[in-house]
Amino acid sequence: MTQDELKRAVGQAAADYVAAHAPQGAVLGVGTGSTANCFIDAIAPFKDRFRGAVSSSEASTVRLRSHGFAVLDLNDVNEIPVYVDGADEVNDRLHMVKGGGGALTREKIVAAVASTFVCIADASKLVPVMGKFPLPVEVIPMARAYVARELTKLGGEPRLREGFVTDNGNVILDVHGLSIDDPVGLEARINQIVGVVTNGLFAARGADLLLLGTPGGVVQHL
Ligand code: 5RP
Repeated sequence: MTQDELKRAVGQAAADYVAAHAPQGAVLGVGTGSTANCFIDAIAPFKDRFRGAVSSSEASTVRLRSHGFAVLDLNDVNEIPVYVDGADEVNDRLHMVKGGGGALTREKIVAAVASTFVCIADASKLVPVMGKFPLPVEVIPMARAYVARELTKLGGEPRLREGFVTDNGNVILDVHGLSIDDPVGLEARINQIVGVVTNGLFAARGADLLLLGTPGGVVQHL
């Protein structure tokens, strides 16, 4: 199977999971990226069962609306039973590196509200130690150089994502060369740097369920 076929398979598996587990009238949390797009397309036939969705990016909002989903403001929503999103890397404790698409901050906010985080990924994303994929850090533009110096002190090599502005009007530093042995500690440490909005480690609040697309089928990891 190609990587795209694996992404479609996990998108469909997540839609089946949500259709079976989310209560009638619930609000869905929806992530960002090519795998999340597969989920949006697969859940679209069930849309009338839900009040709507909270989206983690402008791009996902456009796709949800194209399918007729109501996209709700998170401030008008108290509960999100399930949040479905992809990852750039995931380990066997269901910690993740996210933000390859630059939507990490809104993703982390929606994930914080959600009761259950379902991560969907093709098998290439499961790694023993995260860090090979450069860690995205969203930064207030005026703090870019300062934050880059602080990230260098942590052993990484930050590079500005050229020509990219987040949905929140900020910049992204992609941190190369990290070997992330302590995801929870590093997530907290980077978030303490003044000027950092958030970083792409989802470890303090990792996933609750991983649906992993493998050539042999979709495998569940809890
Ligand atoms: C976007 C993300 C995505 O979930 C992550 O980049 C994975 O994307 P894809 O499914 O396209 O591989 O965090 O900010």
